[in-house]
Amino acid sequence: MDLFIQQEMLSLIDMSIKIGKVLFKNPIITASGTFGYGTEVSSLVNVSKFGGIVTKSITLNPREGNPPPRIVETPSGMLNSIGLANIGVDQYISKKIPLYSTIGTNIIMNIAGTTVNEYIEIIKKVESVSSNIVGYEINISCPNVKRGGMEFGIDCDLTEKLTESLRKITERLLIVKLSPNVTNIASIAQSAEKAGADAVSAINTVVGMSIDIHKQKSKVYTKLSGLSGPAIRPIGIASVHKIFQAIDIPIIGIGGITCGNDVLEYILAGASAVQVGTSNYRDPGIALSMIEEIKLYGEKYIISSISDIVGVVSSNTK
Ligand code: FUM
Repeated sequence: MDLFIQQEMLSLIDMSIKIGKVLFKNPIITASGTFGYGTEVSSLVNVSKFGGIVTKSITLNPREGNPPPRIVETPSGMLNSIGLANIGVDQYISKKIPLYSTIGTNIIMNIAGTTVNEYIEIIKKVESVSSNIVGYEINISCPNVKRGGMEFGIDCDLTEKLTESLRKITERLLIVKLSPNVTNIASIAQSAEKAGADAVSAINTVVGMSIDIHKQKSKVYTKLSGLSGPAIRPIGIASVHKIFQAIDIPIIGIGGITCGNDVLEYILAGASAVQVGTSNYRDPGIALSMIEEIKLYGEKYIISSISDIVGVVSSNTK
């Protein structure tokens, strides 16, 4: 066979994945809170090449977020306590949703609330207008707010009740974003699955703290905050591994992804897709290079579809 044709055939790894009924052109999605509303960097990066974009968390009312300082660098990571700053659902609908008509990738709207009714109201408002949003990521894992946030994500019953209520009002994708700050993340994932979630995403940030010893105060205003970046990658991968043993719906792996090899670790542990977060601050196009790195891996190991390797390391213990 002609060497050129042979090489072309080898490089034809099918990168597409399906979550619920939605097709993603590849498994690389940008993570909530690290890519704005999805439209801010379109002059710098060809966002249509991503498998998808998750928006920052949208709440019922606009929020200013927590007072500064709300971000600090740590060894191999970053602490944040933004406090869900956002424009609120009404402005999101009028100002952002129209911009998605030509974006060329799947938009997932991340939503956060303090009560079940708030989550319901947000989704009902979005469902009442025309949009090409493919689904919702339900943030039940923000460690930086006094009410709501992680309250839901540390309790199986609350997770189930919330997911069940939202399942009744939308046919779009429901992805429940899980907290690592729990004793048993797999049981929370099971509650989301039982209540009708299409997928879970894991993990949100790990509660952390950093202190300025000269000022003798916390470097972040709220004292406790959420750690992301490479430091949490092994926690994320272990969480995906545990969740994969426990549920049958897809998992989206998150936490400390910096390159294609990190993506592959998550996929081999059981993630059908991943979200790239903190790395976007270094380079908003970094996730695009990961797509190319995975294609090379597919070529090297003659993998015809990325789905073929989901969970191969975890499945033999299932
Ligand atoms: O503080 C924040 O806005 C963080 C949100 C989150 O981790 O979900």
